[in-house]
Amino acid sequence: MTISDSVTAVSPTDHVSAAGNRIVSGPLQSDSSQRALIPARAYVGQEEFDLEQERIFSSGWVWAGFAHWVDEPGKVHPVTVGGKPLLIIRGEDEQVRVFHNSCRHRGMAMLDEPAKVRRRIQCAYHCWSYNLDGSLHATPYFKRERTRALPEGADDLGLLAVSSRVWAGMVFVNLATDFADTDAAAADFAEMLAPITARWDHVDFDRIHLADEREFDIAVNWKLVVENFLDFYHLPFIHPQVGPVSASLDVDDVWLADHIIGGMYPRGAAGKTAKSDESLPFLGDVPVERTESQDIFCVFPNALLFLEADWFQVIGFDAAAPDRTVEHMAIFVDCDAAAEKYGPARKSLTNILFEVNEQDLPILHRLQVGRHSPASDRTNLVTHWDQITAHFQDLVARKAGYQ
Ligand code: FES
Ligand SMILES: [Fe+2]
Repeated sequence: MTISDSVTAVSPTDHVSAAGNRIVSGPLQSDSSQRALIPARAYVGQEEFDLEQERIFSSGWVWAGFAHWVDEPGKVHPVTVGGKPLLIIRGEDEQVRVFHNSCRHRGMAMLDEPAKVRRRIQCAYHCWSYNLDGSLHATPYFKRERTRALPEGADDLGLLAVSSRVWAGMVFVNLATDFADTDAAAADFAEMLAPITARWDHVDFDRIHLADEREFDIAVNWKLVVENFLDFYHLPFIHPQVGPVSASLDVDDVWLADHIIGGMYPRGAAGKTAKSDESLPFLGDVPVERTESQDIFCVFPNALLFLEADWFQVIGFDAAAPDRTVEHMAIFVDCDAAAEKYGPARKSLTNILFEVNEQDLPILHRLQVGRHSPASDRTNLVTHWDQITAHFQDLVARKAGYQ
């Protein structure tokens, strides 16, 4: 089952606040519900975590890693999705493929660190080796004798493939559906992403250039990472450097589909301190009404995206344990902005964005600590700020069966 057919998308209506911002109607009917939409135990319990690994991270398209991790043929990058070890591999034909990280002999994980191999990957246990397209290459002494011949049925002994697609520098996988036909995978993936690719059709993601990346290993449940990302209320308090309060209070809720939700700061890029003398070239042909705005979207469950006219930021994460999430944050600019003269501007941009993410870390820790309190089953999301967060929680609760 895929994300696109596992939810019933009902387009919610908007209303406009006194300040002129759109607020999406949602599950919150009043300011004082006295009841969390997701039980507190789901943020700390192993049983709930295991359930979410299956019903959320192994049941549709999810972020698995970055394409630049395998930027040359022969690069192999192990990742974990839904608790399952996978390998992202760039083949000799430049194609990115994903396989289960499990040797077909005795199931040993092939790699636990990124590697660059010449033409094949070899299992360290009994030295079976596989081509970069996953097919079996050699099984030494298979019949207790020296021979180059592959065993019978070798065609079925290649690494097991996982459906995968690349978009905007990111690798997505679908552990639920084994698309033997890559066209079918492409069509399903395109349908899942359609609401955001339509909104961002002015951006040519083939032109993106990695400015910088960083990993954040955080002692927090993954849902709090997403909820904090969708929490526009905290900006003036926690991230005062991102702009004047008036700009950070000026935010629209945006619901593109049940699985793509977020917001838009119409003046999010305006009023900031100039980052440097050289402003960065835009990513694509940005419409004039978008040159100062910032889009923020979660592609459910684990791709958190930011887009301004001149930069694109991704936080993709692995939900590693009930109280551990590993974020991979990457900032991209247009390939024209890779020129040396933009070096200081790129550095200044990435410094600010990393600093913003770091400011959230102590908040996330304390949100996690708070989930051990019985009071956190009686929290109160507020209608003016938290409808988008409530949409996220509602989707989690429906998929995991908390409702
Ligand atoms: S487990 Fe890989 S070759 Fe035996
Ligand atoms: Fe924040």
